[in-house]
Amino acid sequence: MTTVMDDVIARETQFVLQTYKRNPVTLVRGQGVRLFDADGREYYDLLSGIGVTALGHAHPALARVIAEQAQTLIHTSNLFYHPYQGQVAERLAKMSGMPRAFFCNSGTEAVEACLKFARRYWFTKGEPRAEFIALDESFHGRTFGSLSVTSDPHYRDPFEPLLPTVKFVTTNDPEALLAAVSTKTCAIIAESILGEGGIKPLTPAFAAAIKQACAQTGALHIADEIQCGLGRTGTAFYYQALGLQPDLVSVGKALGGGVPVGAALISQKVADAIKYGDHGTTYGGNLLACHAALCVLEELTDRGVMANVVKVGAHFEHKLRALAAKYSFVKAVRGQGLMWGLDLTRDATPVVGAGLERGVIVNRTADTVIRLLPPLIITEAETDEALGRLDAALGAVGAA
Ligand SMILES: Cc1ncc(COP(=O)(O)O)c(C=O)c1O
Repeated sequence: MTTVMDDVIARETQFVLQTYKRNPVTLVRGQGVRLFDADGREYYDLLSGIGVTALGHAHPALARVIAEQAQTLIHTSNLFYHPYQGQVAERLAKMSGMPRAFFCNSGTEAVEACLKFARRYWFTKGEPRAEFIALDESFHGRTFGSLSVTSDPHYRDPFEPLLPTVKFVTTNDPEALLAAVSTKTCAIIAESILGEGGIKPLTPAFAAAIKQACAQTGALHIADEIQCGLGRTGTAFYYQALGLQPDLVSVGKALGGGVPVGAALISQKVADAIKYGDHGTTYGGNLLACHAALCVLEELTDRGVMANVVKVGAHFEHKLRALAAKYSFVKAVRGQGLMWGLDLTRDATPVVGAGLERGVIVNRTADTVIRLLPPLIITEAETDEALGRLDAALGAVGAA
């Protein structure tokens, strides 16, 4: 007898370009932090669709806004005004200290926009600068510009040549950064917490070096907050915790709570260099995306979700550290708020499968790291249940 999953897999295998190695689970429904597969099995979601579903699944307010907007007006193009872009931009400005926003549809597009606006800034100043400084272990997306500042050869090599004007420096090495930056540098781009790279926060000393390098050379600072931003660490943006105020910020993932939307946040000095027609996108910031984003930002700031991250995040950390103490093959626990990585002395891949068997969804990154990005609405009781299942998965997999 073929199951729903057999059918889904057979059809995808035949018709969908095989770029994703999927887990053998067909998810059909969600509720809060839980997901359900086609056979009705329940999973605790400690990944949020890779940091996207900040409000969990089937959130009543977000579902209502999306349904109402779909019945009213979804899209008009950027040739016209609509009520929501300005409201989302205003909220983002208050949260970020960045006075202007440009809306797009994904994280990689937000990074592309930041790279282009940085180039435009120097072009407008009459001293074009081409060079970008990026970090080893970084990940900024799959389009050509974003890929050019992404370090992993596995992602880069098949698509060379990429932008030739990128220099990579060792993450969290202040001297390396200061040695690389010069008055030729257009911008330094860095994830405030490296996500794909294994949940590695920038250190205070490295943040200070970014500040110093920018002050000495005029180089702009682009903070990629696509994974760590929008309240995931308990502050609106992690650069704020590092004492930085970037010139450009890329935002995506959680912004629409699952509706695709991204944004580049822009300082006034860069915004002043941008002219009509410099950049654009057909969908970017349409009514559906922006109404959803407005709902997400309201929940984060006005309805206590960011406060929940601080409270439950402390509990989450406490529980994770207890797990690390229990298993000698957990060599480090890194992160903040509700963004965590358990770095193992072994390949983390089998933990993902063992987790699925026990009803918990986690992800492996940087080979040895179990990445945890739960919905920001998770409770302490749900944390206990989900991490209990992860505990069982770690116990089953063992040290080797
Ligand atoms: C830090 C960071 N930047 C950029 C991206 C690219 O975003 P997207 O996949 O939405 O294009 C990601 C995605 O994982 C990311 O984590």
